[in-house]
Amino acid sequence: MKKFVKIIVALVVVSSVVSCGNKRTRQLQYMPDMYVSVPYGPNGASGIDGRMVNQNPVAGTIARGQVPFEYENTNDGYNKAKAELKSPLKASEENLENGKKMYTIYCAVCHGKKGDGDGILNQRDKFSGIPNYADRDITEGSIYYVIMYGRNLMGSHASQLNNKERWQVVQYVEKLRNDLK
Ligand code: HEC
Repeated sequence: MKKFVKIIVALVVVSSVVSCGNKRTRQLQYMPDMYVSVPYGPNGASGIDGRMVNQNPVAGTIARGQVPFEYENTNDGYNKAKAELKSPLKASEENLENGKKMYTIYCAVCHGKKGDGDGILNQRDKFSGIPNYADRDITEGSIYYVIMYGRNLMGSHASQLNNKERWQVVQYVEKLRNDLK
C-alpha cells in the first residue's frame, strides 16, 4: 500500500512538472512526433528530414489503363489528329451498340439522338451553336480529339469515357453523320 501511495505521489509530481510551469514557454514533450508530425509536402516538397513523397512520375511512364494522347490542345493538334489519327477498333455491332449507349448518355442532350444538333438543351434554348454533324467536315481522328479536349463551347468528355468507349462513340457519331447525309 505504501508503495502504491509513493507511486501516486511520484506521478503527481512528475505530471505537474511537465504540465504546469510557465504556460508561455514550450513544455517538455513526450513523443514529440505526436505534437510535431513529419510534414508530407505535395509533389516532392521535403519534410523535416528531407523525405520526399508524392513525386511526379518518371518521364515516359504511363498510368495503368491509360493510353497516351500525343496531340496538343491547339489548332495544329486538332488538324493533325483530324488528318492522321485512326481508330484502333474494328467496326462491329457490339462497338456500335455501346457507342450508342454512351452517346445517348453524354452527347444526345446537346447533339440530339440523330446528331442533327437538336438535343433537349437546344430545344429549351439552354445551349446554342450545336452543329448538325452532317454540316461539319470531321473525321474519326477529329471526333476523338473533340471528345478529349472539347471545342469552343463544347467541353471535354475525356473524364467520362475511357479510351475504348471514346472510340465506340466515334464509330456511332460517324454512323449518325452518314445517316444524316
Ligand atoms: C453541352 C452541349 C454539348 C455536349 C454535351 C456535347 N457537345 Fe459536341 N458540340 C457542342 C457544341 C456547341 C459544338 C460546336 C463547337 C464549335 O465548333 O464551335 C460541338 C461540336 C462537336 C463536334 C464537331 C467538332 C468539329 O470538329 O467541328 C463533334 C464531333 C462533337 N461535338 C461530338 C460530341 C460528342 C461525341 C459528345 C459526347 C461525348 C458531345 N459532342 C457532347 C456541344 C456539346
